[in-house]
Amino acid sequence: MRPSTELTGQERTLGEKEIIVSKTDLTGKLTYANKTFLNISGYTEEEILGVQHNLIRHPDMPRAIFKFLWDRLEAGEEVFAYVINQSKNGDHYWVLAHVTPSKDPQGNVVGYHSNRRAVDKELIKNVIIPVYASLADIENSASSPREGLEASTAALYDFVDSKGGNYDKWIFSL
Ligand SMILES: Cc1cc2nc3c(=O)[nH]c(=O)nc-3n(C[C@H](O)[C@H](O)[C@H](O)COP(=O)(O)O)c2cc1C
Repeated sequence: MRPSTELTGQERTLGEKEIIVSKTDLTGKLTYANKTFLNISGYTEEEILGVQHNLIRHPDMPRAIFKFLWDRLEAGEEVFAYVINQSKNGDHYWVLAHVTPSKDPQGNVVGYHSNRRAVDKELIKNVIIPVYASLADIENSASSPREGLEASTAALYDFVDSKGGNYDKWIFSL
């Protein structure tokens, strides 16, 4: 369950050489978090293990990005995404996340793995925040959550199309 802590508006920053690592089971429940994850999120290992990764979800994240992320993972593919997360006390932090399926020796997906690193703050301010805000607006003004997600997903595809063809081309061009 996500905490109902109020946002502080205070940003936490990941060091240039720091990497946040987490692993989940197939349902998105945390099975591992490194020290950097625990430090920046403000949780202890005991508080997060076995808990859904949406524990650190920030309300500004559009649902379309998480739908895209899960669609890619469930297709057995990796995905890169800019993500704003919420710390336990309501602070926030931006990361560039690389999320991948983890496979056993037979090639079966047994869970998921994510590494996250620091972001370019100008890029976040000038590109990512405006795109995410417009997707979130579409989601919040729709008549139902389902319609909102469909419309924002369509808007995400239209946007990346206008930027050269597909989501990966867009992300790697930033
Ligand atoms: C390996 C992995 C890492 C994830 N990392 C994050 C993350 O850092 N922040 C986040 O909000 N969601 C992350 N997610 C996505 C969450 O599982 C979830 O889809 C998202 O928080 C939206 O939750 P909601 O649909 O319940 O609101 C991750 C998922 C996986 C599989």
